[in-house]
Amino acid sequence: MKIIITGAQGMLGQQLVEVFKNAGHEVISAKRQDLDITNKDQVLSFVQNQKPDVIINAAAYNFVDKVEDAEFYPLALAINADGPRNLALAARENGALVVHYSSDYVFEGTKQDGYDENDEPRPISKYGQTKLEGEKAIQESTDNYYICRTAKIFGAPGSGSNIKESFPSLMLQIAKEKPELKIVDEEFGSPTYVVDIAQATLEMIKDSVPSGIYHLVNEGEPVTWYGFAKEVFDIAGVTTPYNPISSSEFNPRPAARPVNSSLKNTKWKKLRPRLEALREFLEK
Ligand SMILES: NC(=O)c1ccc[n+]([C@@H]2O[C@H](COP(=O)([O-])OP(=O)(O)OC[C@H]3O[C@@H](n4cnc5c(N)ncnc54)[C@H](OP(=O)(O)O)[C@@H]3O)[C@@H](O)[C@H]2O)c1
Repeated sequence: MKIIITGAQGMLGQQLVEVFKNAGHEVISAKRQDLDITNKDQVLSFVQNQKPDVIINAAAYNFVDKVEDAEFYPLALAINADGPRNLALAARENGALVVHYSSDYVFEGTKQDGYDENDEPRPISKYGQTKLEGEKAIQESTDNYYICRTAKIFGAPGSGSNIKESFPSLMLQIAKEKPELKIVDEEFGSPTYVVDIAQATLEMIKDSVPSGIYHLVNEGEPVTWYGFAKEVFDIAGVTTPYNPISSSEFNPRPAARPVNSSLKNTKWKKLRPRLEALREFLEK
């Protein structure tokens, strides 16, 4: 199959490129400089020229706190909502499937036992709103789509202009630099390995699952940032002392975070357990 992957230099994008190439697909790896997804004309002519079977959109604006700022909100909305709409319209015109990723932050986080694919999204941050707008844009534009919600992605950092280490790497780095750590013991969620999201995407396409919303998260009890750091430090054998703190003790952050935005995958094959995935990532 011929597959366009946008945001190909991002954390997920670069993994998708590797997984789909290794599976023998013809991959058109579109970096931001090659294809700006917010430019509707550029998207339509790019897709028309390439005639792909599938468009996978891994491009996004993920700076959760910056989106609260009126200066950055329009850009975030353009990338997270107009971009997916442009891609979905181009996919429909060319008879292609569009795969898009969304976030646990579309939920308000008050549900005790986590959210399944049919739960009503109600974002509490502007970032969450832009991701929900992106989901709606896809659904309004085509009938042939997978919207894959995931959460707290970890893996090798991307190589684009906004490179950031994921949480486990950041924690290991800080544990080397500081005598003692304080880690927020709030925000229950479902951290997920980027390799497993890419692999799941490949299998969903191979299995021709029906259009719709899917939750792609590693299996495991939801954890707070402190709980996730404990898993990282246990595996890596870190001895630096660390203590739980509340988010109010941490630097004040502009965007509200859901108290519990853990996701339940009730529609498709389970991804492997988080601890197994985390071990593999840390060994690399
Ligand atoms: N990271 C998480 O914890 C997390 C959690 C839940 C859901 N998700 C979702 O998972 C998906 C992948 O996230 P990620 O962490 O891999 O993102 P990422 O590493 O931030 O990568 C996003 C990519 O999008 C590119 N991009 C930005 N604006 C663009 C535009 N206008 N046109 C084309 N490309 C553009 C960026 O290029 P530059 O670097 O050059 O700007 C970057 O390569 C996103 O949909 C995200 O919302 C992520």
